[in-house]
Amino acid sequence: MLSVYWFRSSMFHSGLVYLTEDASHDAVIELINEEAFGPGRHTRAAARIREQGPHDRSLSFICTDNGETIASVRMTPVLAGGVQGHLLGPLAVRPSHKNRGIGRELVRIAIEAARRKGSEGVILIGDPPYYMPLGFEKVAYQALAFPGPVDPNRVLVVPLADDVHDRLKGVIAWRDCGAKMPAAADEAPDRAYA
Ligand SMILES: CC(C)(COP(=O)(O)OP(=O)(O)OC[C@H]1O[C@@H](n2cnc3c(N)ncnc32)[C@H](O)[C@@H]1OP(=O)(O)O)[C@@H](O)C(=O)NCCC(=O)NCCS
Repeated sequence: MLSVYWFRSSMFHSGLVYLTEDASHDAVIELINEEAFGPGRHTRAAARIREQGPHDRSLSFICTDNGETIASVRMTPVLAGGVQGHLLGPLAVRPSHKNRGIGRELVRIAIEAARRKGSEGVILIGDPPYYMPLGFEKVAYQALAFPGPVDPNRVLVVPLADDVHDRLKGVIAWRDCGAKMPAAADEAPDRAYA
C-alpha cells in the first residue's frame, strides 16, 4: 500500500525523504541513537517507559538523504494520567545533517500522524526552547510520575484533545493500543513524507 500524505518540493529537491519506519531501519536507528545519546540512554526515565512495550511504527519516521538514513523519531503509546497519548522520542539527527530543519520536520510529521490517529496528546521530556515553538506546552509541575527521575521543567505536551492539561495527572506508562510490530517484509517500504 502506498501512502503519500503530503509533499514539500524543497525537501525532494534537497534529496531528503521522510518515510514511515519499518523493521529494516532498526539497526541504523540504534546506531543513530547511540551516536546521539551514548550508552546512558537506556537508563533515562523515558527509556524505561519504552522498555515496557513496543513503539508504534505507524507513527515513527525516518529521514533519508539519497537513500541513507540520517535521522529518526519514534512514538510510543502511553497512558499519562487520564490521557491516551504518545511519548515522542528518541529524536536524533546525525551530526552531519544538523541545523537543516530535519529534527523540526520529523516532530511536525509525528505530531500530525498522531493527531490523525486520534492521539490525545504528544508528550516528551526535552528542551523547552527547541520544542515549545513546535507547539509543545509545559505540563503542570510534577503532575506526571515517571518511572525514574526527570526534570519537571522539561516535561512537555502538545494537547490534541479537550482538557488534556487537567487530565495529565498521575502515572505515565506504556499503553497497549494494539499497534503491530510487523516484520520488514510485511510493510510497504515506499511510504514517503516530505
Ligand atoms: C536536537 C536535534 C534533534 C535537533 O535536530 P536538528 O535537525 O539539528 O534541528 P533543526 O534543524 O530542526 O533545528 C535547529 C535549531 O534548533 C536549535 N537547537 C538544536 N538543539 C537545541 C536544543 N537542545 N535546545 C534549543 N535549541 C536547539 C539550533 O540551535 C537551531 O536553531 P536556529 O534555527 O535558530 O539556528 C539534534 O541536534 C540531535 O539529534 N541532538 C542530539 C540528540 C538530542 O539531543 N535529541 C533531542 C532530545 S530532547
